[in-house]
Amino acid sequence: MRIDVVTIFPEYLQPLRAALLGRALDRGLIEIGVHDLRDWTHDVHRAVDDAPYGGGPGMVMKPQVWGDALDDVCGDDTRLVVPTPAGRPFTQDLARAYAGQRHLVFACGRYEGIDQRVIDDAARRMPVDEVSIGDYVLVGGEAAVLVIVEAVVRLLPGVLGNPVSAEQDSFSDGLLEGPSYTRPEVWRDLAVPEVLRSGNHALIDRWRRDQALARTYHRRPDLLERLGEGSLDEHDRRV
Ligand code: ADE
Repeated sequence: MRIDVVTIFPEYLQPLRAALLGRALDRGLIEIGVHDLRDWTHDVHRAVDDAPYGGGPGMVMKPQVWGDALDDVCGDDTRLVVPTPAGRPFTQDLARAYAGQRHLVFACGRYEGIDQRVIDDAARRMPVDEVSIGDYVLVGGEAAVLVIVEAVVRLLPGVLGNPVSAEQDSFSDGLLEGPSYTRPEVWRDLAVPEVLRSGNHALIDRWRRDQALARTYHRRPDLLERLGEGSLDEHDRRV
């Protein structure tokens, strides 16, 4: 997979080269390009923004600069992702969809966003998603790109040491994952739940499912509603 990011703060994307992502890069599992939007400006001030039509606070990013940048960076198999608090929610399902893509291009907006015609024009040639990573407002799309890329790249074959960890995550079955424990058996007078030391794997699976259900019920009841009755068995419903 190839990933390109266009931003006015290329240094903000340095973490893409660290830790898990850095290892995926070194092993040739992904290629990453980070591009400075100002390389596509035409004036001495290297201006990327202008006042909004209709008035109001803030500045809007100019269509000419973005248009030229995307013409150069996007190709025949690009899916363009524009992080914005006004986007559709970024979810694990979308992460899985992106993991199957050959080329992702991220367009990081700042200020009050990018002139909408940039998105509308790109959508005439390629799939374009405006996505939000949560119901809060960041200063720009860069931090959202780090979040999205990490969620996508860990799903690529060979990136995680143990592929089962990606399959058993929170959200993979629509529930939050329950608690985990390691040695020692007792720590600061807190003991690991008895059942996990029982060696009875049927019982352990049932206990884990119960913990996941209880946690989801308390923290994210909206997820349970989305799951629907069909995904819950007789025992689940009693929990
Ligand atoms: N840019 C600013 N806020 C954002 C958010 N919540 N998600 C994605 N991009 C953003």
